[in-house]
Amino acid sequence: MAGYEVIGAEELAEVEDVFASGGVLFRHGFDGLRGNCYKVKEFERAFAAAMQVPHALAVTSGTAALRVALAALGIKEGDEVITQSFTFVATVEAIIESGATPVCAEVDQTLNMDPHDLARKITPRTKAVIAVHMLGTPARLPEIVEVCRMRSVPLVEDTAWGCGGQLGGKALGTWGELGAFSFDFAKTMTTGEGGMIVFQDESTYKRAAAWHDHGHENNPAVPRWEDTRSSSGFNYRMMELQGAVGLAQLRKLPDIVSAQRRNRDLLWEGLADLPGVEPRDVPEGAYETADALVFYAPDSAAARRCRQELLAVGLSTKILPEAYSWHFAGTWDHMPELLRANGPDLRQAFPRSAELLSRAVSLPIGVHLAADAPARTRQAIEKALR
Ligand SMILES: Cc1ncc(COP(=O)(O)O)c(C=O)c1O
Repeated sequence: MAGYEVIGAEELAEVEDVFASGGVLFRHGFDGLRGNCYKVKEFERAFAAAMQVPHALAVTSGTAALRVALAALGIKEGDEVITQSFTFVATVEAIIESGATPVCAEVDQTLNMDPHDLARKITPRTKAVIAVHMLGTPARLPEIVEVCRMRSVPLVEDTAWGCGGQLGGKALGTWGELGAFSFDFAKTMTTGEGGMIVFQDESTYKRAAAWHDHGHENNPAVPRWEDTRSSSGFNYRMMELQGAVGLAQLRKLPDIVSAQRRNRDLLWEGLADLPGVEPRDVPEGAYETADALVFYAPDSAAARRCRQELLAVGLSTKILPEAYSWHFAGTWDHMPELLRANGPDLRQAFPRSAELLSRAVSLPIGVHLAADAPARTRQAIEKALR
């Protein structure tokens, strides 16, 4: 949450600058018309610097970021890509779009990838792993990186919800070979729709940059219509207005995350001592984006009662329990690729994840928190768990 809560004059000034400079909305070329205004390029450079990586590539969405990341890794039909059972459908959709077979690992008490189940599910066909930092809490990255290293499989971090978070002082998205970010309207920083990929390695970056732009290598020696190419690709280019908004939002990111963490702590202080409230596990050294406050209720009926009681006092939940079916692979019977990989009864395929998710409650956290929200939250949860 949150990027949209602080959208305002700074984003508008960046957008106005695009028009004042000539109104070129395309990220490439038109050099004589744009008064040296290249917002997407500037956004990429600023994002790479903020994440302390050598390369960043802006794209049209977080889903596109995942798809382009898999293309840059050369993922194709016949390959397997492992992600986790608790994620948004987009992660699995990107794997299917690449032609590969999606395999989902169980989540553990962190509600992120269980490194032991990942190790069990790797086969010689596994060509990439996508770990997700669900709702802003880091996955167990040191263990996951180690499993990937031992089996020589590249790691992509789905950092849709982890933008601005860290583990052990290292930005989420920069532990793996690639990190994919989302800037959709519900994310920690937003460009309306948009995404970013960060890279450690220049050749992977170059493959991604070409693939997201129909194969264009943007060879400076020739005009764009004579451009060189060595692969096909697609169009996932970000446009200048998104780049402009992104620049302003990126400058606000540290403050957004600090405010969310403060508000998360205020809510948690009001809940921590309640009988029946069990905290989500958080890896040591985590700096969460605090996009949500997640805890476990004793059972799924109690989790549903938490939502009802929160609604009754004018509050709500986020994803768990109400949007469980968009975020749990055990319910995605509409994906034949998932059924082929995990067996015909998806409901039985991830028993540990199903048990944890069925009793998880997630409270939305934003930059703004009403003064009485912690007390009202406590009142609602106490009543639900009584
Ligand atoms: C975990 C995860 N991955 C990927 C995406 C896709 O991002 P976008 O909406 O920008 O396509 C989302 C969006 O909610 C997400 O939650």
